[in-house]
Amino acid sequence: MSSTVPASRLVVLPSAAWASTVASELADRLARRPSLRLCLPTGDTPTPFYAELVAGERRGAWSLAGATVVLLDEWLGLPPGDPARCDVRLRGELFDLLASPPAFVPIAVDGADVDEPATALDTAASGLDLAVVGLGMNGHVGFNEPGTRPEDRSRVVRLARSSREAATARYGAGAVPSGGVTIGLATILEAGEVWLLVTGERKAGILRQALEEPEGIDCPASYLRRHPRLTVFADEAAASGLRAS
Ligand code: F6R
Repeated sequence: MSSTVPASRLVVLPSAAWASTVASELADRLARRPSLRLCLPTGDTPTPFYAELVAGERRGAWSLAGATVVLLDEWLGLPPGDPARCDVRLRGELFDLLASPPAFVPIAVDGADVDEPATALDTAASGLDLAVVGLGMNGHVGFNEPGTRPEDRSRVVRLARSSREAATARYGAGAVPSGGVTIGLATILEAGEVWLLVTGERKAGILRQALEEPEGIDCPASYLRRHPRLTVFADEAAASGLRAS
């Protein structure tokens, strides 16, 4: 990445400006490197950011056509097409709405061998220019649940109960997932830049733990502070518990 990209920083934004600001930052990285390789999360947090990316492409402000997007994580045990599947969400909220979508690397979880997609994922996610991640209520990043160590690579994981419940209760899954596959914390920390996206008051406590309490396996997001180019994009509600704010 260009040396003019700033080092670690916390960007606190009014809720109304959050998505457009993150989209503009991505447009900046795409302008510097049209062939950007990045991973993207799903969930409720990035939805308005993806809507801004679509709107910007429609008005000709930027294009993702030259980029490659690797899926950050995927559920195990949900059939193809399930609305909670990460590949389904990312296609529906972003790629299918773009006139010129980026290359997409989903996670092949529908074969017989559950370890195979993790190996392929780690290869696809090695040397990313940018890792974009969300923050779970329990401090997870991707599906790197509490207990994850910073040296853990992409792998099949047991999901925390709260994560499995979120699949059905919040994301509309037709069944409770049996597990997950995730880009590992070590692989995320090897990216050129890391962006942590956090919105909403309900994330204020876990964001404070991630950024201001001692790092540890009980909050995997705390290890992101080791990255020299971590940017935290938080709205004011999510940042409301931070001493820094
Ligand atoms: C999903 C993912 C998860 C979410 C996290 C926050 O692909 O990687 O780590 O980013 O659970 O989810 P939301 O944004 O729904 O609060």
